[in-house]
Amino acid sequence: MKALVTGGTGGIGLAMSDSLAKRGYDLLIVSRKEGSIEELRKKYPDRKIDFASYDLSDEKECFRLLDETRDMDFDIFVNNAGFGDIGKLTETDTNKEIKMIKLNDIATVILVKNFLRRFIAKGKGRVLTVASAAAFGPAPYMTVYYSTKTFVYYLAHGYYRELKDYKSKVTISVLCPGPVKTDFENKANCHFTIGSLYPEKVGELAIKKTLKGKLTIVPGFKIKLAHLFSHFVPKKFISKVLNKSAEIGK
Ligand SMILES: NC(=O)c1ccc[n+]([C@@H]2O[C@H](COP(=O)([O-])OP(=O)(O)OC[C@H]3O[C@@H](n4cnc5c(N)ncnc54)[C@H](OP(=O)(O)O)[C@@H]3O)[C@@H](O)[C@H]2O)c1
Repeated sequence: MKALVTGGTGGIGLAMSDSLAKRGYDLLIVSRKEGSIEELRKKYPDRKIDFASYDLSDEKECFRLLDETRDMDFDIFVNNAGFGDIGKLTETDTNKEIKMIKLNDIATVILVKNFLRRFIAKGKGRVLTVASAAAFGPAPYMTVYYSTKTFVYYLAHGYYRELKDYKSKVTISVLCPGPVKTDFENKANCHFTIGSLYPEKVGELAIKKTLKGKLTIVPGFKIKLAHLFSHFVPKKFISKVLNKSAEIGK
């Protein structure tokens, strides 16, 4: 059994890689820098854990990844690499946001769609893509990040229904965590004001549910409740509630 995990060198991706290795999967982990996967290799000496460096915010790199893995046989594809940003719309760096859209959304379309096609052709396979509870409603000061995650959430739901139409055994899942203790806050220059979960808990749940073919994976009771309410509450009200969910600065 073999899985490809993007952004598997840290945070939630590393935790999901650990959960996969624990279940007997060999891994190809992709990100820009090798990070802490040496620890994973030491923990699971019987697993084959490879690393390959790609900057997935560049669509050419996404196509290179597809080309270079064309002859590899994966059972699971985990699309996890992503980042966020916070700030006033009068001050945020538009180039950083463009890079965010490219990684969180453009790379997601290229990679998720391609792996679904591969899996449909062979009649099996599972795709897990990482959105966020950010997909449940708009938040001021993190508007672009929240919008990128809404895109991922909708993409997964649309492809899920299409796979059902094809009567395919291939599954797609979307992970929607609230705050998780990773390097995310540091990179987004933000500080969550609501409680964070540990990545190990989120990663384990994500893999367990993905292997059952569950579409939407929402860790934690409070975030599950937020998910439920988001279906009924006007977006204008949600944006008011979320106004103070993260502060600018680490
Ligand atoms: N932490 C949270 O509170 C939270 C909540 C909901 C959803 N999420 C989502 O969860 C996912 C993982 O985030 P995390 O919290 O685990 O953050 P993290 O600890 O910063 O990990 C991000 C991973 O993505 C990789 N990555 C970043 N930019 C990349 C690029 N251009 N090309 C390839 N790989 C890249 C990083 O490695 P390199 O830097 O070496 O490339 C790292 O392995 C993201 O999609 C994030 O939006 C996070």
